[in-house]
Amino acid sequence: MKLSALAASSAVLFALAAPVAAEPQAEVLHWWTSGGEAKAVGVLQEEFSANGGTWTDMPVAGGGGDAAMTALRARVLSGNAPAAVQLKGPAIQEWYEEGVLADISSVAEAEGWADVLPASIAEHMKCEGHWCAAPVNVHRVDWIWANAEVLAANGIEMPTTWDEFNAAADKLKEAGVIPLAHGGQAWQDATVFEVVALGLLGPDGFKKAFVDLDADTLSSPEMVAVFDQMRKMRGYVDENFPGRDWNLATAMVMNGEAAFQIMGDWAKGEFLAAGKVPGEDFLCESAPGDGYLYNVDSFAMFEVDGDDKKAGQELLAKLIVGPNFQKVFNLNKGSIPVRTDVALDEFDSCAKKSSEDMAAASENGSLLPSYAHGMALRGAQAGAITDVVTAHFNSDMSSEDAVKMLAEAVANSM
Ligand code: GAL
Repeated sequence: MKLSALAASSAVLFALAAPVAAEPQAEVLHWWTSGGEAKAVGVLQEEFSANGGTWTDMPVAGGGGDAAMTALRARVLSGNAPAAVQLKGPAIQEWYEEGVLADISSVAEAEGWADVLPASIAEHMKCEGHWCAAPVNVHRVDWIWANAEVLAANGIEMPTTWDEFNAAADKLKEAGVIPLAHGGQAWQDATVFEVVALGLLGPDGFKKAFVDLDADTLSSPEMVAVFDQMRKMRGYVDENFPGRDWNLATAMVMNGEAAFQIMGDWAKGEFLAAGKVPGEDFLCESAPGDGYLYNVDSFAMFEVDGDDKKAGQELLAKLIVGPNFQKVFNLNKGSIPVRTDVALDEFDSCAKKSSEDMAAASENGSLLPSYAHGMALRGAQAGAITDVVTAHFNSDMSSEDAVKMLAEAVANSM
């Protein structure tokens, strides 16, 4: 046999013997459907495709992810879980305990995640010592956003205390401007509530109430003051607030119909997607008071059959924590990278402030998990609190009654 023929036939033999390389595939369940969110998730989709992956999109609209979590439960119950799911906080461990999450430790170890993630955040990604989720970003929740022109036109500065906020809101109302853009959905009510609570209870009080579920703090006079401020907030929203999506509330600030919005920095993703410039068109300031409420988005991989799907999960996990994705995604999303080694040069002033404040809060013990965004508590407890917050916001319930109801609801949820 000629040498070339020998080489050709052995190549055929080798090809037959070699394992067929898996083609990475992933069905991805997420709730990123607003303008800024869709742009950001598009970054992941593109990077996955560029690395040979086939992405099947499963978006479930609904800010905060309540609808997405209902859809997830239905899929898991029918034995057909999506490969990758936007999931965060203690819900990750809750799903792990159901025995349906894949262990992604091999990717985490190969990629050295332990060296590039803050320890407190890495903890959220672990289940009984294994890595079971890949972190995407750090969103800060306790922000106030404002329309720069509206504030200037009314001689108003960004408030640094809640009294200043109330004075500004009263003045704006008088001038015919909607002080607070808000959407009446339970998770948005909870978002405003926890920001007010952090401001008025302080970081220690917040931790006692919404991390430790301390009964005395939940029924304290300070908590009554939190509900008093929520009653004021109710007076600062327009009458069309019920059911409004959060991004439509952001649009009201953008177009000057409203002055302020209290929302996590996914709102910045909306401003940026609309071409607005921080410091010029819109302003960002941390809400009055100390502390930093974090909300880390992450993806968990569900147990699936087939090498292609498993390869898809591994590729996705690797890309999510990779430095390129961390930069490009977060530039669009409004959040900051979760990796500590990604430079922030290309990020705006709000992102830089978030990063600096996070480092300081971590130093002085005021870095706290968001209860409203599922970082602090298990579903039953968080749900019990939100039910009370929403019931109070949407009625004329007194603050004293709300606090009584809060303490009872939390006790019954344990
Ligand atoms: C949060 C989530 C953010 C953003 C927001 C509104 O819970 O962490 O990424 O999407 O909901 O949908």
